[in-house]
Amino acid sequence: MAFVIAVDGPAASGKGTIATRLGAMFGLPVLDTGLLYRGVGVLTERAGADPDDPRAAGAIAATLTAGQLDDPALRTRAAGELASRVAIHHPVRAALLDFQHTFAGQPGGAVLDGRDIGTVICPQAPAKLYVTATPEVRAERRWKQLKGQGEDVGYDDVLADIRKRDARDGARDAAPMVAAPDAQLLDTTEMTIEQAADAARRIVEAARARWEGSQETT
Ligand code: CDP
Repeated sequence: MAFVIAVDGPAASGKGTIATRLGAMFGLPVLDTGLLYRGVGVLTERAGADPDDPRAAGAIAATLTAGQLDDPALRTRAAGELASRVAIHHPVRAALLDFQHTFAGQPGGAVLDGRDIGTVICPQAPAKLYVTATPEVRAERRWKQLKGQGEDVGYDDVLADIRKRDARDGARDAAPMVAAPDAQLLDTTEMTIEQAADAARRIVEAARARWEGSQETT
């Protein structure tokens, strides 16, 4: 397969920033797959349908297009919660598979960040990272980000959201959030963005060297 970098991990672990940095470093396009689930959640609600109904949310997922992912409404706290509710449905996940596989299949390779990239979407990815941090540190980061976007929300509420989302994403039976056995763990709790990006670069450089070696012998 092409050189795919899978970046998984829980909410506000730093995976989005790391994926963007890796894309720039290695000259690869980046897909934030969380936006797909956020898009389905927001569009389901806008359509007046029930986000907890697998068929209704699955039907919306089947109509989702790339052009709908730029909407700033997808970046809100409410959209994150809706995303994690629709993400438990098998029909939603199935409807989003093609989009992700097409993106990952680009000839030059790609970076995808999410929850199940290394386990379900691209289990053969030559480079896999699982990015974590403590819930408290993640809540602090997400709280600052939401405040920066103008949302009026308290730290304790954001921490409660994060814990609820971790539990729901980890316990669902459709593609639960879990590190792939061959993923490199990157705990960013004590790291600045620069340090985390640097650690990620080293992991991916090593994976790339192994991948290039395997390409020569096949
Ligand atoms: O930005 P943040 O980490 O808060 O969340 P996100 O990556 O935008 O994902 C929002 C929600 O979508 C997650 O809590 C998951 O429930 C779901 N999701 C998923 O199930 N699979 C993915 N590959 C990406 C996101």
